[in-house]
Amino acid sequence: MKHPVLAANWKMNNGPTAAKTFMDTFLAGYPLRGDRTIIIFPPAVSLTTVAIAASSRPDVLAGVQNIHWAEKGAFTGEISAPMAKDAGARVVLVGHSERRHVFGETDAQCAKKCLAASRAKLPFMLCVGETIEQREAGETKALVTQQLRDGLSQTPNLISADFLLAYEPVWAIGTGLTASAVDASAIHTLLRSELHQMIGTRGDEIPILYGGSVNATNAAGLLTAPEVDGLLVGGASVEASSWLTIAQTGRPH
Ligand code: PGA
Repeated sequence: MKHPVLAANWKMNNGPTAAKTFMDTFLAGYPLRGDRTIIIFPPAVSLTTVAIAASSRPDVLAGVQNIHWAEKGAFTGEISAPMAKDAGARVVLVGHSERRHVFGETDAQCAKKCLAASRAKLPFMLCVGETIEQREAGETKALVTQQLRDGLSQTPNLISADFLLAYEPVWAIGTGLTASAVDASAIHTLLRSELHQMIGTRGDEIPILYGGSVNATNAAGLLTAPEVDGLLVGGASVEASSWLTIAQTGRPH
């Protein structure tokens, strides 16, 4: 069994001061564990704070919520993969549903971001997931397959690329609605079989996380679902106390 990956997506919460307080509390209550990996995705302004706090902890990684695909240039407000890496990021989130649905990010742009992360030698976490309309129209499987294939289409040497996937049904994000463990497993199994077609047995090693209204109460059930290798948590990851509970969910491996 793979070690679980438990990822906190703070979204636009926890500036540097709050991030420092969070990390002090979290790390004090979460001694080093070799049986799981924790990733914290703070807002970019708090990235260095989180990275410095986690620097002595091989089991806790700082990540960045978004990058631009260019290395540098006239892109006001953006940051590049090399810059994020320089600031301490060790993982890049690509194609989160809020990037796609609030900011209009396309599969083609996600593909360029995955390529940029690979070039910077930063592992990326590609997010896929359907809206409620797409779900009700029976389009979920075709949609997530397309998001997966399009998102990875530019990544060189995919078989040796360092990446993770996150299945986050849009209708479950921030709504209090969670996919059942059975529903999540069905899509994770589909994604796993697509990975097999693309990269053979290497596909077994790619962690596939579930996200969407995960909290301290439902985390354990989701983590036991087949093919659910971890959790990507938004709202319930913003406070250290709630995150501490989720980070320690599940039996030791
Ligand atoms: P949520 O967000 O846990 O608040 O639903 C998950 C996410 O967007 O990654």
